Amino acid sequence: MTTRTLPLSFRRFRRLRRSEALRALVRETRLSPEQFVYPLFVAHGRGVRAEIASMPGQYHLSIDQLPAEAKELRSLGIPAVLLFGLPAAKDEAGSEAYDADGIVQRAIRTLKDAAPDLVVITDVCLCEYTSHGHCGVIANGPDGQAEVDNDATLPLLARTAVSHVEAGADIVAPSDMMDGRVAAIRAALDDSNLGHIPIMAYAAKQASAFYGPFRVAAESAPQFGDRRGYQMDPANAREAMREIEADIEEGADIVMVKPALPNLDLIARARDRFDLPLAAYNVSGEYAMVKAAAAAGYLDERLVTLEILTAIRRAGAEIIITYHAKEAAKWLGT
Ligand code: PBG
Repeated sequence: MTTRTLPLSFRRFRRLRRSEALRALVRETRLSPEQFVYPLFVAHGRGVRAEIASMPGQYHLSIDQLPAEAKELRSLGIPAVLLFGLPAAKDEAGSEAYDADGIVQRAIRTLKDAAPDLVVITDVCLCEYTSHGHCGVIANGPDGQAEVDNDATLPLLARTAVSHVEAGADIVAPSDMMDGRVAAIRAALDDSNLGHIPIMAYAAKQASAFYGPFRVAAESAPQFGDRRGYQMDPANAREAMREIEADIEEGADIVMVKPALPNLDLIARARDRFDLPLAAYNVSGEYAMVKAAAAAGYLDERLVTLEILTAIRRAGAEIIITYHAKEAAKWLGT
């Protein structure tokens, strides 16, 4: 048998890989800070800038820290934040969630004052505000067991969303996973003459162990049981499509898949099937894994993060909510 050299024309893939300029020219998926949403954890007090142990590089910030934060984000080209609040006190009904003078409501006013063009998105949920740490109110279910009461929770979520918008929020993002919450929020916004406000629904949100570091950050771990009675089973893809479909029917304007990295298939399916803007949440556990491996010297944080974010975009998400937003924006700019 004789070996023969392939004709040059057979070296077809490598021709366009010979320089960064050529690779950039033919790149199919582009990553830009304009696609990022940066989560912020806002706390009571003054001069608070406390690093979150489970999420290196992320902070609890008091309200006075927010104007500088907003300006930094705008200067990096990041258009939007997603707000989470740490209340002064928790109770059974999560009252600070819908208090006009609650931590998130005050944060919204300060951010919009400091940077009017920053898109302020608020997480609408009760888990950071309830003493039991669940995303809704507790009542006895059909079998006498304490459980999260779906229908009793809806008005509280709607009230929370309206109070955020009255404080100046640009988009509300329900993350509680009660059935019918998008419809309830849409109706409440309409009734308050706030029908111009978009809803970004955490549509396919799984009961995921990847939220562990966030629950440390938001002090929102459930005090009994878990969230599997309302968040999705990660095993279910068809049901994820039904969740998204339901939120669209109820009036969502942007739909979300969460977490992102274990669900690239769901992102791709949703992108194929629905024509709404699609967001993916690159959650706390995904961030913490990269940080830990990078700190141990096991991988290159910059390259791995950009690869992950590119994969989430390639799967089909237009919007990425990520704790890496600021670092990625800096890396992309250099
Ligand atoms: C509130 C909420 C959670 C996250 C976003 N909104 C936690 C949860 O559902 O327990 C998780 C975000 C992350 O892990 O980065 N319900």
